[in-house]
Amino acid sequence: MSKVFKQKEHRVNALQNIHCTVYQGEMVAIMGTSGSGKSTLLNMISAIDEPTSGTIFLFGKESNAIYKEPKASNFRKENIGFIFQSFHLLKDLTVEDNIALPLILQDVPSKDIEVRVHMVMEHLGIAAWRKHRPHELSGGQKQRVAIARAIITKPPILLADEPTGSLDVKTTDEILQLLVDLQHDGQTILLVTHDPYVATFATRVLFFHDGTIVDSYQNKKTDTDLDNILTKFKTVTRGER
Ligand SMILES: Nc1ncnc2c1ncn2[C@@H]1O[C@H](COP(=O)(O)OP(=O)(O)OP(=O)(O)O)[C@@H](O)[C@H]1O
Ligand SMILES: [Mg+2]
Repeated sequence: MSKVFKQKEHRVNALQNIHCTVYQGEMVAIMGTSGSGKSTLLNMISAIDEPTSGTIFLFGKESNAIYKEPKASNFRKENIGFIFQSFHLLKDLTVEDNIALPLILQDVPSKDIEVRVHMVMEHLGIAAWRKHRPHELSGGQKQRVAIARAIITKPPILLADEPTGSLDVKTTDEILQLLVDLQHDGQTILLVTHDPYVATFATRVLFFHDGTIVDSYQNKKTDTDLDNILTKFKTVTRGER
């Protein structure tokens, strides 16, 4: 699949002939320099934007038909959960209302919403904060709320763009462990990160450079993963591959 953006006079090859397969239940980290096409890939997968050429297969089916509205929004609502570095919570809504929002948009009956929101809040350890508003929470708590909102509709794919970029080391560990627990429950996760340590929590790492996948690494869950990822990342960012 390729994606070309036209910026005034010149064309940007944001993704060039990339080919990869992500399996259900994998947690794939996407690493690469700024501008290497990581967010563009997430936008293609979630039908926010359309490839210039090529095809994405989702659940074994060609997804070219989903890029038109209202199909694209419906596809996203049903299949994709998003987590961002800056949380993107609605500041005027309580924690429980933020989490309930995707279900409200799907017209789920309010009794069911209540039950599901409560279950997810308990699961993520944020039930005590349910009546609070986002500004009263720490970064880690906000990201837990954002994760709760992302998984409340049980989407098969979770896309996370630098989800720990604004968090300290300890909170980063907690949030990543939460993602790993979700993955162990069968959740498929794509995780964009600049941080080799974060990538060690994934099952596999893809290295992007100039819109292409230049290398990959299968994590072994041993002490050597961090060094191996760091070495590959340095090679990639130096443009040696
Ligand atoms: N909507 C757009 N219009 C024009 N060019 C774009 C658009 N979106 C992205 N690009 C260009 O495509 C390239 C890839 O951008 P992308 O946002 O995917 O990079 P990234 O790997 O996510 O970078 P970062 O790590 O900084 O978030 C960049 O050169 C960027 O300027
Ligand atoms: Mg990006």
